[in-house]
This record gives sequence, structure tokens and C-alpha cells, in this order.
Amino acid sequence: MNITIIGTGYVGLVTGACFSEVGHNVICVDCDEKKVELLQGGGIPIYEPGLEELVERNVAAGRLSFTSSTAEGVEKSDVIFIAVPTPPLDDGAVDLSFIERVAREIADCMTSYKIIVDKSTVPVKTGEKVADTIKRYCQADCDFDVISNPEFLREGFAVEDLMNPDRVVIGTTSDRPNEAMQKIYKPFNAPVIFTDINSAELIKHAANSFLAMKISYINAVAAICEASGANVEEVANGIGMDDRIGRRFLNASLGFGGSCFPKDLSAFIRISDELGYDFGLLKEVQKINASQMNRFVKKITDTLWILKGKTIGVLGLAFKQNTDDVRMSPAVDICQRLLKEGAFLRVYDPKAMDKAKEVLPDDGVLYIDKMDDVSKGCDALVIATEWPQFKELNLVKAKEAMTAPIIFDGRNLFDPVSVEQLGFTYKSIGR
Ligand code: UGA
Repeated sequence: MNITIIGTGYVGLVTGACFSEVGHNVICVDCDEKKVELLQGGGIPIYEPGLEELVERNVAAGRLSFTSSTAEGVEKSDVIFIAVPTPPLDDGAVDLSFIERVAREIADCMTSYKIIVDKSTVPVKTGEKVADTIKRYCQADCDFDVISNPEFLREGFAVEDLMNPDRVVIGTTSDRPNEAMQKIYKPFNAPVIFTDINSAELIKHAANSFLAMKISYINAVAAICEASGANVEEVANGIGMDDRIGRRFLNASLGFGGSCFPKDLSAFIRISDELGYDFGLLKEVQKINASQMNRFVKKITDTLWILKGKTIGVLGLAFKQNTDDVRMSPAVDICQRLLKEGAFLRVYDPKAMDKAKEVLPDDGVLYIDKMDDVSKGCDALVIATEWPQFKELNLVKAKEAMTAPIIFDGRNLFDPVSVEQLGFTYKSIGR
């Protein structure tokens, strides 16, 4: 198939690379000319395991190319995916101006039948508006179909998730695009579900909100575990073995972050409000998420008392492992709170230091190149991202290098008994 993807962010670029990997011809379009130049020169603007090799291989095979011209992308392909950002507005609503602009651009250069596929996460009923917009601005009198195909990939596992999807959702009101969509997804061997457009759009918000709810649920259980002396991991294992519940997304933490869950949850609450339903359950999910970070900071201040002038080592800045993304990162949030209290930070992240430098203040933060050097002179260590390599931290050496052996583990990476046996004061989540 000849496919164009508009937008080369996490979703667009990884989708383009994976579609070309299974043999389709893909043109990736982005309005950011610098980014296009970088991609054309073999550079990758984001860190995502396996992506660089995939892009390199498919560019070399002539199946993947990059351009800043929407007209070129629209002309050369029958199927056009929209994968542009849908960022949150201050009031929790979704900014759909990028989607609207792309819809007009596509309309402007369409001269024959096209299938326009929305892959960006959008509020229910957006497909209808995209179709109206294209109809209004289309110069030529040509047919088109707008369909919804939400993406479920996780950052840090994007290539793996895209190559092995557990389901593909296609929302359409006409049969005409079905054959093309089936052809595109056939090589992925995943179950394909056809729905109407509104349902497909809703599936995405409902799925992300459900997963966020699962995390807030276990975080609330973690608070009860702390108050009662139970262990949240044992509880999560015990309830997760019930197939109806499942163990995944039951890891107690500092709360969920990233560019998706906080934004999609707010959007879903807002959409529900507009449709006349007060989704109080999801408001509580947000509340628990905010209180989780407050509880963690309180653990730090309860132990260290005054933070002003203290040196705190922070392991992890990305919003989760395997990514350099710091958007809505709980790790960055904790750094900002500690800095506000007057602490001095020694920070390390395997991939996210450059991006963190753009959002953290210059004063009071020292970026350390090696994980094992972070502890030097620290009054405490905070573990803020669950990078697996943090488990390899040499705790004996860390203790020697620290002013006081105290660890606040926001990701439950260590076994409390063994860390305490080494002489540390160790506080984690829900145990
Ligand atoms: C999420 C969804 O998992 C994807 O299916 C979806 O496609 C994506 O949003 C999106 O809408 O684009 P992502 O934001 O990349 O993916 O990251 P997740 O792995 O879902 O983690 C989100 C947050 O929840 C992270 O801060 C993570 O640390 C936290 N989390 C996750 C927990 O605190 N506990 C868990 O058990 C799992």
C-alpha cells in the first residue's frame, strides 16, 4: 500500500517505520522543516528502542521517506494518516487546531478519492468535524472517507507494541475503506475490530482512563497498606492473579504521568461533562494521582525535616523507563518540589537529561554522568523512574558516599529488608 503519515511525533514516526517494515511504501510528512531535514539525514528526534535501526533499514530499502510537503504526501498515497499532536488546553479541553489545519491542507490538495485516517487521540465526534471540514475546503469534487484508527502504543515500547498489537480498532461508517485498511494491517496478524467512528474514538479515551484508574486504585491501596503494615506488591500479585483483574498496571508509584494519561483523563472528564454526564469516578482518579505525589513528598520532609541546604540525589527524570520524554514527568515534578524547598539536587537519567535541562531551572541542579556518582555527599537518594539499571546501583558504595544513608524509592525497585540490612533508612510505596 502507498501510505502517507502526517506528523512525525512518537505515534506518526513509529507507525511510519513499522508500516514500511512490513512492506508498505510510506511517506512521513511534517511541517517542521528542521525535523524533516534531520530525518532525511538519518537522525532520529526521539529516543525509542529499536526505532533508529528500523528507520535506517527502510529508508535504505526505499520504502520510507520524509517531506515537509503535504501536497506531495496527499498526491502520492491513497491512504493518509493524521498523527499530529492534540495537546491539552488550560481548561482541560483538547486543542484540535492541528487536526483542523491538517484537514484543510489535505482538502486543499485532494484531486482523487482518499481515505483519511485519524490516528491522533481525539474527543468523540471529531471524525464528523474532520469530514465536514474536508468537504467544505475541498477544491475538487472528489470522494473521500474519514475513519478513526486509534493507536495504543506505549512510549518506550512503541516499536514492540506497534509490531505486535493486541487489537486494531477501525471506526468507519462506510465499507469502502475496509479492504485498504485490512491490507495495511494484514501483516501484523492482529485481531481487527470494526466499529462506528464515534465508538472507535471513545475506545481510546475509555481505555486510557481505565488504565489510569487501575494505577490510582493500586496507589490508593498502597496508602492503606502503609497505614496497616501490609505490602502492596503482595496485594497486587494476589489480586492480579484473577484473570478478570490482571497484574499489569498495578505497580504502585509516584502516580502516572506522561503526555497521555493526565491529558486524556482531563479530556474524557470534560467531554463527559459536555455530553451531560458527571464522570465523578475519573475525577477521583485524578485526585488520587495528585495526592500520591503529596504523600511521597511528605515522607521526605517527615524524615529530613528541613530541605533547605540539603543535597538530594535523584535517579530518573523521564516519566517512565525506556524513554527520554519528560512531559508531565512525576520525576521532574518531584525535582521541582524539592528545589522549591531549597534542596540542592544531583540528578541522573540514562536518556532524559537533555530534555530535563529544558524544563528544570539551571540553579540548584547538577547533572551527573554516571549513576554511581550521584550519591556523593547526598543527605538522601530519591528513585523517581523505574529504569531497570537502577536496580544495579552499588548500594554499599552509595552508603559510603552519602552523608546520611536514606533512600526514598518512588518505584519500589529494591527489596526493603535487604536495603535496611545494609544500614539504610528505606521508604518506598505501600510497603
Ligand atoms: C499510554 C498507554 O499505555 C498506551 O496504550 C497509549 O497508546 C498511550 O498512553 C497513548 O495514549 O498514546 P504511555 O503514556 O506511553 O502509554 O505510558 P504507560 O506505560 O501507559 O505509562 C503511563 C504512566 O503510568 C507512567 O508515568 C508510568 O510510570 C505510570 N504507571 C504505569 C504506573 O505508575 N504504574 C503502572 O503499573 C503502570
